[in-house]
Amino acid sequence: MNFDQWTRTVLDRVESALDHYLPAADVQPAPLHDAMRYAVLGGGKRVRPLLCHAAGELTGATPQALDAAACALEMIHVYSLVHDDMPCMDDDDMRRGKPTVHVKYDEPTALLVGDALQSQAFVTLTSEVLDAARQAALVRELALASGSIGMAGGQAIDLASVGHSLTREQLETMHRLKTGALLRASVRMGALAGETPSADALAALDKYSAAVGLAFQVVDDILDVTADSATLGKTAGKDAKDGKPTYVSIIGLDASRALAQQLRADAHAALEPFGARAQRLAELADLVVNRVS
Ligand code: IPE
Ligand code: IPE
Ligand code: MG
Ligand code: MG
Ligand code: MG
Repeated sequence: MNFDQWTRTVLDRVESALDHYLPAADVQPAPLHDAMRYAVLGGGKRVRPLLCHAAGELTGATPQALDAAACALEMIHVYSLVHDDMPCMDDDDMRRGKPTVHVKYDEPTALLVGDALQSQAFVTLTSEVLDAARQAALVRELALASGSIGMAGGQAIDLASVGHSLTREQLETMHRLKTGALLRASVRMGALAGETPSADALAALDKYSAAVGLAFQVVDDILDVTADSATLGKTAGKDAKDGKPTYVSIIGLDASRALAQQLRADAHAALEPFGARAQRLAELADLVVNRVS
């Protein structure tokens, strides 16, 4: 199977699994479930589910276990986007080529969609496709990655940094938390859903994720400047307008592009111990970085 066929297969599986793990639109309270499904289904690049599946193939995880982990990751990610777009945060009216949840519905609904998706992620992770030990391990990974020392912490730093100039180290810390933590968890949860990986294997995967996670947000920062809203499916040029510290604002566009390439090479190097078995992860590092080349 080539990479395109593999991604299509995984994306199809994940789309059906998301439909399955989200409450149906006619379950009460129906307006909330409708809004949750609007936010999650039929959009996004699904990078976290792809990373999760690719890592799980290394440890022989079942596709069903990986679907549950992938859906939980995507639910947390979408919750973070719905809240990120709200007027009290980035105040965006377009996401994934559609009106944001607070625009299409209203602000209280957007708040509750995020809250409920976060809970639904953990309901999903504790389904019977994972045994009890793996459920506990994955719940912990996802909770740590999305909380105050992960995504939510990164978002707090992001908001507190508006209009301030950060050092490069401070910027890297912010990016590692707000974006890197969940991408790292995607890889770890995929791996942990299968045969328990060795400490060395997990360390190598963490090195890979550190590079891909940072590359992902560097690329997001670059695209905010270089791409148009139609291509991105979200409002371009928003970071500069809002005074957000980004890689582009701190080291410039060319250095950001070079950094993304360097991080891609770092990601590939980290996968060397796995040889050809890590081909999908290597291809995903390329996918992330090639968005800007
Ligand atoms: C956007 O994430 C927010 C960041 C963490 C940079 P994605 O670029 O993964 O958004 P979707 O899921 O494809 O819409
Ligand atoms: C969002 O970062 C990161 C999270 C939602 C955790 P951004 O604010 O840069 O994401 P976009 O550019 O709105 O997608
Ligand atoms: Mg933001
Ligand atoms: Mg934003
Ligand atoms: Mg951005």
